[in-house]
Amino acid sequence: MTLAAQGLSAIRSGRTILHPTDVTLEPGEYVGLVGASGSGKSTLGHALIDTLRAQGVSVAHVPQSPDEALDPLRSMAFHWREAEIALNRPCDPARQKMLFDALHIQGGDLRNRPWGWSRGMQQRFVIAMALIGTPDLLVMDEPTSALDPVVAAGTMDLLDAYLRDRQTVLLLITHDLGLAARRVQRVMIMDAGKMVEDAPIEQFLAMPSSSAAQALCAHRNWLELPC
Ligand SMILES: Nc1ncnc2c1ncn2[C@@H]1O[C@H](COP(=O)(O)OP(=O)(O)OP(=O)(O)O)[C@@H](O)[C@H]1O
Ligand SMILES: [Mg+2]
Repeated sequence: MTLAAQGLSAIRSGRTILHPTDVTLEPGEYVGLVGASGSGKSTLGHALIDTLRAQGVSVAHVPQSPDEALDPLRSMAFHWREAEIALNRPCDPARQKMLFDALHIQGGDLRNRPWGWSRGMQQRFVIAMALIGTPDLLVMDEPTSALDPVVAAGTMDLLDAYLRDRQTVLLLITHDLGLAARRVQRVMIMDAGKMVEDAPIEQFLAMPSSSAAQALCAHRNWLELPC
């Protein structure tokens, strides 16, 4: 099923932070949403999620910071159960083990509060929670920002292996063009609340047309990073 949302926009404090934007996502497609900090990536992500959910699409969201997803006063086990209940799923330890294995979540005590886990473990836990319901669309906002480059690369590999057979669309929001270049088939570039490019990743890297994209591409050393 093609996912489509038209005229996504946002105004905050009288300022247009997202100009009307159309987004179309094909089944199984991996798409990057890339731009400088403050360009409107998370705003577009939120607007897209709200609109698609209103259409009845199953959307899972990994927010930019684990703090947005995890309550410091609740145990990790509580969070997991809450997610299962929200998704109308029975308690299923086998599914939990499968997702924990897939994302290499090991040694964390589920009775602990989030601050009893490392940030990297928290981030992978939030990714695992997002996969409980096998969503049509997975939106990940800076999913590897709390991970060191080697663990980030491993997590993306595991996620890719998990999603590959499932037709789940992945929207990867990041300011890290190197990460997107390795992981997505198409890239959308944001600049000052506008989508300034939407192109297959090879075409984009060969010939970025907007000045924002050219600035992102100018720092070629990202090609050396493992993720
Ligand atoms: N609630 C709000 N009120 C006022 N301005 C906001 C609000 N939310 C976001 N903004 C502004 O809108 C712009 C886009 O913000 P957004 O968080 O979407 O950027 P981003 O591309 O995700 O940045 P980052 O890479 O730092 O996460 C920024 O200038 C931000 O300051
Ligand atoms: Mg953001």
